[in-house]
Amino acid sequence: MATASEIAAVGVIGAGQMGSGIAQLAAAAGCAVLLLDADSAALTRAVASISASLRRLAAKGQLSQAACEDSIKRIRCVSTVQDLREADLVIEAIVENEDVKKKLFVELDKITKPSAILASNTSSISITRLASATKRPSQVIGMHFFNPPPIMRLIEIIRGADTSDEVFAAVKSFSERFPDVFKICRLGKTVICSQDYPGFIVNRILMPLINEAFWALYTGVATKEDIDTGMKLGTNHPMGPLQLADFIGLDVCLSVLRVLHNGLGDNKYSPCPLLVQYVDAGRLGKKRGVGVYSYGQKSSNVKP
Ligand code: NAI
Repeated sequence: MATASEIAAVGVIGAGQMGSGIAQLAAAAGCAVLLLDADSAALTRAVASISASLRRLAAKGQLSQAACEDSIKRIRCVSTVQDLREADLVIEAIVENEDVKKKLFVELDKITKPSAILASNTSSISITRLASATKRPSQVIGMHFFNPPPIMRLIEIIRGADTSDEVFAAVKSFSERFPDVFKICRLGKTVICSQDYPGFIVNRILMPLINEAFWALYTGVATKEDIDTGMKLGTNHPMGPLQLADFIGLDVCLSVLRVLHNGLGDNKYSPCPLLVQYVDAGRLGKKRGVGVYSYGQKSSNVKP
């Protein structure tokens, strides 16, 4: 099993909002990064956004020009899971769907080297169940980054029922390596550890808040702007819950609420019909240009 200092090559699967940020962090931490996505257009977008983000940092003097260009060069886009066979650590950030993730873990277990650690950036799905799809459950762990990964200071690490102490220690210390080399995170990444319960720590508390904001909008308590302004100024949150849901992705919020509802069996986690309708309409949030709010794109007919 790889120790933190032996993690030299990192595979990142899923080059969307989260995977691209994780790839950027791993490259800036000095690792060779193999970035895989089922959609080649997502890879092209990810490389463009990582390069632009690193070059912005270099232009501001937060990263040297050489470190910036070296980090970009360390990222290689690949097209099949087989291309990840040399990875010491694979971090999966694909769609929040248990069956799809399990299928991927089965494949990863077959092709990666026996010492490789397999991590999931899942927002809510059981690490124990993902691990059970492999023959190396002691080397499977949750590494839950926050959006956007290069900026947000927290990483929530989730131990499955069989995750070994060695794997936990390696991933914790690897995670704490990010801020040392990536100057944007001046204050450093902080690691918290959660047991493997639905939604872990942060989403178990955050998603009911977001869901309640949707209920308030759905039942006409107030406008979206007033709900968000109320929570921003009334509770000193940096952004309101509806805007935050747009940033996270409404599809991700809905998936997490369903995991909480199924796993904890309490109706308080039952997703608000308005959230379900937005997702059905393809209003997935900022990444699609429209969610609760519009981001420079024509909105659909779904009205709160
Ligand atoms: P996204 O929709 O931006 O990106 C997902 C990417 O995965 C897409 O580019 C898609 O083409 C690719 N993909 C889907 N299935 C695939 C497969 N089988 N093989 C290879 N690529 C595949 O989603 P986002 O927001 O980046 O979320 C990804 C994961 O991270 C989810 O598990 C989500 O719950 C989790 N997460 C999301 C956060 C957020 O704020 N959006 C925060 C923390 C975790």
